[in-house]
Amino acid sequence: MARRFGQAGYRLVLAARRFDRLSALADEIGAQGGEALPVSADLSQLSDIQRLVQVTLDHYHQIDILFNNAGFGRLDWLEGLDPLVDVQAQIQVNLLGLIWTAQAVLPPMIERRSGHIINVGSLAGWIASPTYSIYAATKFGVRGFTDSLRREVSVYGIHVSGIYPGSVDTEFRAHARIRRKTGMITPKRMRLTAEQVAQAVFQLAQHPRRVVFLPGYMRWVVALNGLFPGLVDWVVRKRFVEREREH
Ligand SMILES: NC(=O)c1ccc[n+]([C@@H]2O[C@H](COP(=O)([O-])OP(=O)(O)OC[C@H]3O[C@@H](n4cnc5c(N)ncnc54)[C@H](OP(=O)(O)O)[C@@H]3O)[C@@H](O)[C@H]2O)c1
Repeated sequence: MARRFGQAGYRLVLAARRFDRLSALADEIGAQGGEALPVSADLSQLSDIQRLVQVTLDHYHQIDILFNNAGFGRLDWLEGLDPLVDVQAQIQVNLLGLIWTAQAVLPPMIERRSGHIINVGSLAGWIASPTYSIYAATKFGVRGFTDSLRREVSVYGIHVSGIYPGSVDTEFRAHARIRRKTGMITPKRMRLTAEQVAQAVFQLAQHPRRVVFLPGYMRWVVALNGLFPGLVDWVVRKRFVEREREH
């Protein structure tokens, strides 16, 4: 995402915890004629978020786009999740951090009567699968927050978009602690690349929309899940849960 926006001449702030990686990426973008400021921040911490926004304003004097992306999933049965390091931490980063970051960039956006907040949800924010309970709770929360905020701030010329990808080939799975007896996971050919998501977000920044599903056809799967929840329960139980769990 940073590379795609950097190529197009956007001036960037890159925020995450691992400064060495941010710094290497900022150098790479700089070497290609772009501009990126790396800032180490733990986006589960309000003080880090406030510092990040202040550093950004000090450096660039305005914020045009917030790409609210930090997040992770621990995809295990609920009783297998630690209440603090799995449950609380997911809520803290995926939901609370995202809300606090949006909140922190709003005053300068309202003042300028312009801005675009792009929140990263997930298909798990529309279809709640087993082993995704907490992750889905955070992403359903992201969806509700995004829809409400959009209606609050459109009067100021501020756009708020939700992007809802299916499976993407990133480091996400390395942190997800997925355990499958059946080995059932999304096949590689059905996974998106980070570049595909970056291109979709880039287009979204040029032409703001309320909602983006990735891949686009997933909107029909979401619609089916809403129309036939009992059927989905039955299929998920037969095809997945009964094969995975002792019962
Ligand atoms: N991959 C998928 O299949 C998929 C599907 C739908 C939605 N998503 C969503 O896409 C977003 C990005 O995930 P990804 O797939 O790109 O996973 P990823 O490769 O693991 O990247 C996660 C990013 O978030 C940062 N991050 C995590 N916790 C953080 C914290 N406390 N403070 C600051 N930064 C933090 C990480 O950097 P540091 O570790 O250096 O902090 C990293 O840059 C997430 O919101 C995820 O839920 C992913």
